[in-house]
Amino acid sequence: MIRKLFLNANIHTPVDSGRPAAGEDQGRLVHHEKGALLVEDGLIVEAGDEVKIVGLSLEKTIHQTVDCRGYCLIPGFVDSHTHMCFAERREAEFAQRISGVPYLEILNQGGGILSSVKSVAGASEDDLAANTRTHILSALSLGTTTLEIKSGYGLDLANELKMLNAIHRSADTSPVDVAATFLGAHAVPLEYRERPDEFVDLVINEMLPQVANQGIAGFCDVFCEEGVFTIDQGRRILTAAGTLGLGLKIHADEVHDLGGAGLAAELHAVSADHLLAANRENLALMAQKGCVATLLPATAFSLGKPYARAREMVELALPVALATDCNPGSSYTESMPFTIALAVMNMGLSPAEALTAATLNGAYALGMADRVGSLDAGKQADFILLDGESPAILAYHPGVSPAKAVYKRGEKVAG
Ligand code: NIG
Ligand code: FE
Repeated sequence: MIRKLFLNANIHTPVDSGRPAAGEDQGRLVHHEKGALLVEDGLIVEAGDEVKIVGLSLEKTIHQTVDCRGYCLIPGFVDSHTHMCFAERREAEFAQRISGVPYLEILNQGGGILSSVKSVAGASEDDLAANTRTHILSALSLGTTTLEIKSGYGLDLANELKMLNAIHRSADTSPVDVAATFLGAHAVPLEYRERPDEFVDLVINEMLPQVANQGIAGFCDVFCEEGVFTIDQGRRILTAAGTLGLGLKIHADEVHDLGGAGLAAELHAVSADHLLAANRENLALMAQKGCVATLLPATAFSLGKPYARAREMVELALPVALATDCNPGSSYTESMPFTIALAVMNMGLSPAEALTAATLNGAYALGMADRVGSLDAGKQADFILLDGESPAILAYHPGVSPAKAVYKRGEKVAG
C-alpha cells in the first residue's frame, strides 16, 4: 500500500450528504485553514484539521509527504457536459455568428452541428481519439479530473459507434475519468429533414440497442429545440433509453422554452442542461424530482445570450451543476475556471455555490458521486492546488490558470 500525506493544506470542499447539494447547502463548504489530507492507494482516508490527521498517521508508514503551503486545496472539477470529441474546429462559423447570424440559422442552413457531422464522417477513429485526448489533457491542466463526453456528430450507427469508441480510447490513455453519453439525436440529418420521425425511429430501433448492448455509454441525451427535436420525439427516445438501462439527460430549453425541463422531471432524468429559457414551474418540478440543473455559462457567453437564472434555481432548492459544454460551435473552451468565473460574475452564484456546482453536483449529474466530487473519506484523492486563498480566486483572477498542480488518485498529473 502507498500512503501519502498532504500537509499545510488550506482545504475548501463541499461535503457529500448523499444527494446533490441544493438551496442553502449549495453554498456550504467545509474549510480547514491548516488542514491535511491522508491518502492510501489513491483514496482519501480523511481530509481535515492537520493536527488530527497527523495524529491519525503517527503509527503508519508514510511514503510521500507533500507540503501544500501557500495554496488552496479544492476537489478536482467534474465537467459533466462536453462535446469534446470532434474532428475539426468551426472558426469561420464563429466569425459568422459574431457578425450577427444566429446559431440555429447556421444549423438550418446545414452548417453548425451538421458541419461537424461531415468532418467526423471523414475522420478515422484513431484521429478522433487523438483529437479528443488533446482536449482532455487541456481540461486536466485546468483542473478537470472527471468529465463527460457526448457522441452526436455521427448521426448514423457506424459514426456514432466510432465516436463512442474514440471517446473510450482517448479516456484510456489519459488519467481523467470519462463518462460517455450517447447523443444520437443531436440534429436531424439533412436527408431526414422532411421525415424526422423516421430518424427518431432509427435512433430508437437501430442505434440505441447497439449502444446499450456494447455497454459503451452510461447516458442518453437528446437536443430538444425548435427545428431540432420536439418534446414528443425526445420523450420517445429517452423512454426507450431508460428501458435499456441508460441514465437520461436532456439539452433543454436552450434557446426556446419547449418544456424540456418538464420532460426531465417527468422522466426522472439525472439532469437537464442549458435551461436558459426554462420556465419556473418546470424548474420547480425538476427540484421535486431530484434532477440536477446543469448550467453552461460559457455557451451563453459565446452565443451572446442572457445567462440561465441560477439564483432562482438555488432559491427553488434545485441543485445547480456547472459545466463547460466544450464543443466546436457554441462554446469552445475546456476551462472550468472560466466557467466558474462567468457563473460568479454573471449569474450571481457565490464562489462557494459555484465550487459545489463544479464538483459535487457535477459528480451527481454523472452518477459518480460515490467516487468523486468532494474530499469525503473513501472517495478518490482528486484535487487541485490553487494559487489563492479561497475558491474566490477562480473569479477574482480570471483568464489565467490558477491550478498550480492537479492530482488524480493521489498522483500529480499536471502542473
Ligand atoms: O450544447 N445545443 C446543442 N449542442 C451543443 C452545441 C454543439 C455544436 O454546436 O457543435 C450545445 O450547445
Ligand atoms: Fe451541449
